[in-house]
Amino acid sequence: MRHPFIAGNWKMHKTVHDAVVYTKEFRRLVADVTEVEIVIAPAFTALHAVAEAARNSNVGVAAQDLYWEARGAFTGEVSAEMIREAGAEYVIIGHSERRALFGETDADVNRKTRAALAAGLTPIVCIGETLAEREANRTFEVLDRQIRDGLPGLTPEQLSALVVAYEPVWAIGTGRTATPAQAEQAHTHIRARLADGFGPDPARECHLVYGGSVKPGNIRELMEAGDVDGALVGGASLDAEAFAEIVAGSLKAPV
Ligand code: PGA
Repeated sequence: MRHPFIAGNWKMHKTVHDAVVYTKEFRRLVADVTEVEIVIAPAFTALHAVAEAARNSNVGVAAQDLYWEARGAFTGEVSAEMIREAGAEYVIIGHSERRALFGETDADVNRKTRAALAAGLTPIVCIGETLAEREANRTFEVLDRQIRDGLPGLTPEQLSALVVAYEPVWAIGTGRTATPAQAEQAHTHIRARLADGFGPDPARECHLVYGGSVKPGNIRELMEAGDVDGALVGGASLDAEAFAEIVAGSLKAPV
């Protein structure tokens, strides 16, 4: 059985100093957790220092973005190899803030996902509809497009190693969490589309996590929704104790 996957996306928060202080405290708080895959995603500047501070612990490290080219004249960009060498094993791709504020397209998401996989990084690929799209009953159509155009060219094996994060844009940073029923409905749909594209086994094996205002107080009910394998957490991951509570709350009661 898959272990729950819980990742904290710090976005543009924490200096190197603050990031290292957090990591030392957080690894102590989750030291006894063996059945959750735990990841934190600092800003690029703190990536190496956080990876060092998390070394030999059960806490993995993710970058928040990457560029798909291996090297070259791309001012401001960071390659998959640079991220690997800094000590990260994961990378968040296609976050809605990248899509909305920086014009990232599904085609970019695809190039980034393939570059990450080729370099041995585990992509955490974000998809999700805006409020206007949900209200216009276009949620499934948007998710279908993001899967169709964001994930072509992946092998079934690559798909099984992927983390897909369903993050309804209206729930991100708004305090308005999807209900467990809404999360389950979207996840069931996404899993079915992934099965159409890659086969039922890879679709079952990949982690499908929920993101959007996840907190210590709602993680349990979200995890109990069908087909939710974990969470991508923004705001509540900035505090080590709160994030450790989310990790603990993600453990489903044994069946
Ligand atoms: P939030 O962010 O938890 O602050 O809503 C989630 C995300 O952006 O991944």
